[in-house]
Amino acid sequence: MIAGRSIDHVGIAVRELEPAIGRYELLGFRLAAREVVADQGVEVAFMALDGGTSVELLAPLTEESAVARFLARRGEGMHHLAVLVDDVRAALAEARARGWQPVDAEPRRGARGKWIAFLHPRDTGGVLIELCQKP
Ligand code: CO
Repeated sequence: MIAGRSIDHVGIAVRELEPAIGRYELLGFRLAAREVVADQGVEVAFMALDGGTSVELLAPLTEESAVARFLARRGEGMHHLAVLVDDVRAALAEARARGWQPVDAEPRRGARGKWIAFLHPRDTGGVLIELCQKP
């Protein structure tokens, strides 16, 4: 079993960061961090609630990025659910042991220095799942 600890964040694909940041500020979120993740071709903004829950807004920097393709196909909206685990590498091994084919064979560096790996929606009931581990 993959030992999920908590929901780390919900990823939301947006065309532009600024208006999206404003929308979440209206909902009581505050901008906690903003970062370019070059290897994914996105700029992200982490919006946090005082209770500790976060939303990650993802805006594409290039037309080739996976988020740009997602927006072209599905429009703005929920992109992934991130589950915090103690060990992404062990979680990937668990996923493969049950016949799943994760998007990432190995953990890689994501935003905020976390180790991350994605599970494919075809294995998880239609939801792209990000496994993440604190740096
Ligand atoms: Co994420």
